[in-house]
Amino acid sequence: MTGDDPLDEGTAPQADGGERAASEPHTDGGVAGADDVTLDPWGSSTVSDYRKLFEEFGIEEFDEILADVPNPHYLMRRGVIFGHRDYRPVAEAMQEGEPFAALSGFMPTGDPHIGHKLVFDEIIWHQRQGGDAYALIADLEAHSARGLSWDEIDEHARNYLLSLLALGFDPEEGTLYRQSENREVQDLAFELGIEANFSELGAIYGFDGETDVSHMQSVVTQMADILYPQLEEPKPTVIPVGPDQDPHVRLARDLAARMRFFKVTKAYASFELTDDERALVARAYDAREEYAEDPEMPRCEGAATWLEAERATADGLPADDVTLESTVEKLENGGKEPLRPRTRFFDRQATDEAFEALIDAVEGEKRVYESHVDAFDLEVAEAEELARRLEVEHGGYGFLPPSSIYHRFMTGLTGGKMSSSIPASHISLLDDPEEGYDKVKSATTGGRETAAEQREKGGRADECPVYELYAYLLAGDDDEFAKRVYDECVGGERLCGDCKEQAAQLMREFLEDHQEKRAEVEELLEAADVTLESPRR
Ligand code: TRP
Ligand code: SF4
Repeated sequence: MTGDDPLDEGTAPQADGGERAASEPHTDGGVAGADDVTLDPWGSSTVSDYRKLFEEFGIEEFDEILADVPNPHYLMRRGVIFGHRDYRPVAEAMQEGEPFAALSGFMPTGDPHIGHKLVFDEIIWHQRQGGDAYALIADLEAHSARGLSWDEIDEHARNYLLSLLALGFDPEEGTLYRQSENREVQDLAFELGIEANFSELGAIYGFDGETDVSHMQSVVTQMADILYPQLEEPKPTVIPVGPDQDPHVRLARDLAARMRFFKVTKAYASFELTDDERALVARAYDAREEYAEDPEMPRCEGAATWLEAERATADGLPADDVTLESTVEKLENGGKEPLRPRTRFFDRQATDEAFEALIDAVEGEKRVYESHVDAFDLEVAEAEELARRLEVEHGGYGFLPPSSIYHRFMTGLTGGKMSSSIPASHISLLDDPEEGYDKVKSATTGGRETAAEQREKGGRADECPVYELYAYLLAGDDDEFAKRVYDECVGGERLCGDCKEQAAQLMREFLEDHQEKRAEVEELLEAADVTLESPRR
């Protein structure tokens, strides 16, 4: 049901604040200028300006909810995790000891590196906070979108999983799987595929007539991955990823809503309104004293006249002309019908029994229409809960829209972006510790031309890949240490030679330690419930 239903997020820009309409991230399409932000799951993602992600794509700033997160991870405290979508329900579940989940996926295209470690750490942290933790190997995606052979995939998958376990993932508590081996994910992907069509995938991902079908299938598979933790019961779920995955997150949020039996909204009269129209009617309702003979019973036609008049005033109304016109028209057609706030259950794709059961379950004054029920004594939040409960009782999924958190991309050690195709630019978790040491020693820095200049002006820690290594990894949980490096650098007390020597030693130690742990968790991995060798060839 993705047609002209005004309540469908897929067509009408609304639920997430109308952000889809303004600037859809066309991913494969368009060559982005140096300063553009592209969010491309399969391209080379660079983000030169994180502010644009907030402004253009509606990603929220993580700082704003940091205070509500119990024992935030150092990546959160240091702003490495800089953004989120709807993380609040996850934070609340954590605070209240209620169920929540964290899931992320890895395309096994090469060796796991220190960028993947960020995501491993995020999953593990949520697991330790009491969440159900999931890590999956996106082997179908790697095979279809990147053309990797099953042999290569097996080898890489094993390496990702070993590093994940070595960093502390508990495979007995958590869930590991490969896309290709998870029948439930495949089935869910098929169901979700019914709610998405080719034009939509084209608009989001820049797919065209040349895109192969399996690549598209890997998209619905990822949608199923993201919703998989909620298959047994709906729960807040966070997807920790880089911002290049945001198009996937948004589509998953849309699909989650489209699968729902009911959509709960506020309403003011018997007819349907889009979110934008509803905002206008809410304004008119609030201004009822100005036009209604009886402010207890403002009428649609009065609201229409008021809106028309408001539109002519200097400050105007927060809506475009088209919205204004359609709203006024609907109100005019409403004529003498009273405007009266209510909570509406819109029947999106409920079974008949579920709809009947809902009608019975609504308490207080209610009015039943062909495809919606209006409740006059129910708040929206209570109504949401009721709708979800009945949906689940009648065999629906009741999905909550999945949440996400986004981490910054690391700068490459050679400057520019960190890329797995440039070995010197990144550190693989499998690098020989001495090689790791050397890479850090030869990294570019934010230092000055001469030591004298550095003492005088201080270094540019904010532009220094070596400082990033401290903040993202080497300082671990020790905020004071990270801050000391920063302060000493910008204060001119720290010189790059020594600073790199210290970082290089820490990197060597980290790699030694990590690789030792990888060896130790071999058995744990063998015992884990995940296929290490694909039967596919
Ligand atoms: N597309 C992701 C990547 O390119 C991998 C992935 C598959 C994933 N399924 C997922 C990530 C679910 C997060 C959640 O790395
Ligand atoms: Fe970077 Fe350290 Fe040099 Fe500062 S002192 S610019 S942090 S290498």
